[in-house]
Amino acid sequence: MITTTDLTKVYRSRGRDIAAVDGVSLHVEPGEVYGVIGRSGAGKSTLIRCLNLLERPTSGTVTVDGQDLTALAGRGSRAGRPLRRARTGIGMIFQHFNLLSSRTVQGNVELPLEILGLTRRERRRKALDLLDLVGLAERARAYPAQLSGGQKQRVGIARALAGDPKVLLSDEATSALDPDTTRSVLRLLRDLNQRLGLTVLLITHEMDVVKTVCDSAALMEGGRILESGRVHDLLATPGSRLARELFPFGGEAGADAGAAEGPVTVLDLTFHGEGAARPVVSRLARAHDADVSILGAALDTVAGRQIGRMRIQLPGRPEENAAALAFLREQGLTVETAGPPIAGPPGTLLDKPPAQAAAPDAEAAPAPGAPGTAGSAREDVR
Ligand SMILES: Nc1ncnc2c1ncn2[C@@H]1O[C@H](COP(=O)(O)OP(=O)(O)O)[C@@H](O)[C@H]1O
Ligand SMILES: [Mg+2]
Repeated sequence: MITTTDLTKVYRSRGRDIAAVDGVSLHVEPGEVYGVIGRSGAGKSTLIRCLNLLERPTSGTVTVDGQDLTALAGRGSRAGRPLRRARTGIGMIFQHFNLLSSRTVQGNVELPLEILGLTRRERRRKALDLLDLVGLAERARAYPAQLSGGQKQRVGIARALAGDPKVLLSDEATSALDPDTTRSVLRLLRDLNQRLGLTVLLITHEMDVVKTVCDSAALMEGGRILESGRVHDLLATPGSRLARELFPFGGEAGADAGAAEGPVTVLDLTFHGEGAARPVVSRLARAHDADVSILGAALDTVAGRQIGRMRIQLPGRPEENAAALAFLREQGLTVETAGPPIAGPPGTLLDKPPAQAAAPDAEAAPAPGAPGTAGSAREDVR
């Protein structure tokens, strides 16, 4: 549904070239929720703005629903007609909602419908349908200032759906919301994804967002995609940084090993699906007459499926435990020999939540009518 090939965006700033997006090839399947995660400055916003040609990429192509957008003329508010038409198939939501404070909830949702040329009657009906879809029908006449952060984002989502898009892009849409509100907005996005068959690409710096709603994920750093794939495949990939952040084992590898006498083998096991229910460890202990110590274990739901992770310790060096390792792999488990931490302890991959999170209702949308701002507010809603 969304494909980029070797997408690059170079900014020239104070005489220096910055490759904000540096050779990104991304593939998002129709109907999936795809998360791009990375710390601040990784190039996520630039990437998402290149996807709908709010920014013109320096090189590479962007194809959405079979159409090469980079072949169409214009960008941002100066897009040509074919690009503007293609963009109606791509909705976008923002961290700070970007609602116009002088317009009612309904008026905000009607804005893109005005640009699409619907009559007053059609706009009203469509806006109320969309508000119903996001659970805000009874607040149609309220003003943004009268809404909570979560409600504002629901208006943002209704507005993004005005052009019946096949694709919804989300730039940190839950970063300004508290955890409960975040969950309810994510639930709404998942619901829309399933009910409307909407493909969702969301960017976030919050691992929990990926864990809760994403089918696939990519890790972005320094303008590049370091890792990407289906979340469940990543969890089964030894050495995956994303998997480790999505579902850490807890406890440092080797931290407990010092307490044992003689050499030991520490293994990280990941149980998927039905494997999670089988008594694999007790069978291992019996079949190989091994003293298995469990150093840590957790069950979690990732992308709607149960996953179990366990760190165990066996006496003897890894070479001496080859048969036990083979037994575990035969049981369908992902087995990794726990070495030194891959890239620091869990949690170092991403930044702490940004300072804005402290002010959940911060309104970033410029006041309408303020000099020089009307254009950019319009641009964001197309
Ligand atoms: N308009 C711009 N002009 C110059 N540099 C920019 C511009 N937009 C972003 N950058 C730079 O590109 C890099 C990636 O920024 P951004 O895409 O906003 O990252 P993220 O959304 O992951 O925080 C940063 O180094 C940022 O300073
Ligand atoms: Mg950003």
